[in-house]
Amino acid sequence: MNFSDQLEARFADMLGHYPTKRSVLVPFLLYTQDELGYLTDEAIEEIAQRLDLTALEVRNVISYYSMLRTRPAGKYNVQVCTNICCLLRGGEEILEHARKKLGVAVNKGISEDGVFSVEEVECIGACSWAPAMQVNYDFHENLTEAKVDEILESYRKKAQQ
Ligand code: FES
Repeated sequence: MNFSDQLEARFADMLGHYPTKRSVLVPFLLYTQDELGYLTDEAIEEIAQRLDLTALEVRNVISYYSMLRTRPAGKYNVQVCTNICCLLRGGEEILEHARKKLGVAVNKGISEDGVFSVEEVECIGACSWAPAMQVNYDFHENLTEAKVDEILESYRKKAQQ
């Protein structure tokens, strides 16, 4: 499989900065996902081969990190935490609100315009500011339904620019 010149350059650069090949795995998966939209079977095989890992080892790492995915997502992937702190502060209601608002099934599917997908995820490390969600690389905390509406609207506008 061929990656872009930019991704190849990043890969070569990272190999020189990390103590072992394996250490390159998570950042390289993120860069690859940014380029392809999600981690395809082909990309997983390629990365495993380059880092002297098995595809299963790579998949195990992917399944641990909620930011990594093996299926397509919307331009903005809305990840709502429903783990204990968020659950106690309305995380499930926030998830349901986002699902209804965007008209997309949780953990599958992309909105018709391709802009949004919604996922339910485990703790994203923002427990002190629960309930929280992450949209691509941005964190949003102390959520209310009104705040979620504002946030989603801002991404919708960005998508139209
Ligand atoms: S439990 Fe939701 S961010 Fe930690």
